[in-house]
Amino acid sequence: MDKQQPPLRIGLIGFGCVGQGFYDIIQQQPALGLAITRIAVKHPAKARTLAPEQFSYHAEALVNDPTLDLLVEVIDDPAEAFRLVSAALRLGRRVVTANKAMLARHLPELVSLQQEFGGTLLYEAAVCGSIPIVRTLDSYFSHEPLHAVLGIFNGSSNYVLTRMSEAGTDYGPALAEAQAQGFAETDPALDMGAFDPRSKAVILAAHAYGVFLNPEEVLNLGIEHIRAADIAHAAAQGQKIKVVAGLYRLPNGRVTALVMPQLLGPESPLFTVEHEFNGVLIEARYAGPQFLRGRGAGGHPTGSAVLTDVLALRRGFRYAYAKRATPPEIQLTEGLELNTYVRHADAGVLREVLTWLEMPAEALRTDAEGAYATGPVTLQQLWAWRKELRANSVFVARTGAVRLAGVPVPATHVAALV
Ligand SMILES: NC(=O)c1ccc[n+]([C@@H]2O[C@H](COP(=O)([O-])OP(=O)(O)OC[C@H]3O[C@@H](n4cnc5c(N)ncnc54)[C@H](OP(=O)(O)O)[C@@H]3O)[C@@H](O)[C@H]2O)c1
Repeated sequence: MDKQQPPLRIGLIGFGCVGQGFYDIIQQQPALGLAITRIAVKHPAKARTLAPEQFSYHAEALVNDPTLDLLVEVIDDPAEAFRLVSAALRLGRRVVTANKAMLARHLPELVSLQQEFGGTLLYEAAVCGSIPIVRTLDSYFSHEPLHAVLGIFNGSSNYVLTRMSEAGTDYGPALAEAQAQGFAETDPALDMGAFDPRSKAVILAAHAYGVFLNPEEVLNLGIEHIRAADIAHAAAQGQKIKVVAGLYRLPNGRVTALVMPQLLGPESPLFTVEHEFNGVLIEARYAGPQFLRGRGAGGHPTGSAVLTDVLALRRGFRYAYAKRATPPEIQLTEGLELNTYVRHADAGVLREVLTWLEMPAEALRTDAEGAYATGPVTLQQLWAWRKELRANSVFVARTGAVRLAGVPVPATHVAALV
């Protein structure tokens, strides 16, 4: 950095796990020439690691403060985050955010606001913590067709699955352990129900394929109803269960998205992604397969991603969204099928589930833990019955690639790996 340049003045909105991690990194690296000059939080009575006079309780004031060069928004309230970030972009400001739920819901509008008012929004920290996947897709693969982008996008559920498989614990104790370690939210629904990885897949779709997906239309099935029997079933075949979020280019040129548990063998690079780690597999037409793996959550890993965005903003970087110029059509369920594993503790309930999913009654098997079935299911059936499957505590996982008219997707050599 040019020593004559004054430090970049940053307004930090949110001082929780990510905000403190980012603050800590900046303090440890004074040579970067960055200064957090204002911090906004919500609760005045909360005990802090810094003196009370360092905090403001009016985030709006930071948005409107002309002495700040850029804003970092890391609060845990998506609606309020959208209000603040969109207000800042209307003022043409430079903003960094980590809020994936907000981005997944409002990306088209946030992109338009940047075009209209000249501001910039970067959000590397919103997807897979420390893994530099947004910029990799946006910049490096800006013009390369991608067969697939998929992976483990949620550290909390991966931690639960790892502990269940390592220690043979059931879901409840494994989740309690994840919460005690600080890897899971107090309300686990977003992580365990696969809503969080769905948000991340929606964000990546804008950069990987140039499509704005509506998160409400992407099928997400989680692990809330997984039991030790499911882990044992996979292990008996030398496999593990992972929550895989996938974006795939179909043989007809369209793009599909799916987030659900999957049984994977050691041939998959995702097989060894354990605990709170995330992994992203890119299958590019010319570059071939690439795999990134790193910490998906936590103050320092996520703070590190925020820092790279701040430094990129200083250099004038903005996302190109190059593939938005020729967006493909989206095909989320129609004509798609996959092989599944379905389990319930009660054989009677599972028998009914098989009728919902149009699976043959003969597929049902019983064991000491209840009943399970395996076989092909259409994505249209899974989508149509998704609420009933959740409400009736049915665990569903896929056992192989998505298929369009019998052709596995992506239809390349990597299909066997995913
Ligand atoms: N934790 C991770 O590992 C991780 C990883 C990737 C992305 N993210 C995303 O990063 C964001 C922050 O997550 P976090 O884990 O750091 O959350 P957190 O620990 O719960 O902290 C949230 C912070 O936001 C502040 N806040 C909430 N509403 C506010 C408002 N209206 N105005 C000003 N401040 C407000 C809170 O203030 P008080 O201190 O007064 O309560 C708190 O300091 C979320 O969008 C999350 O999804 C988190």
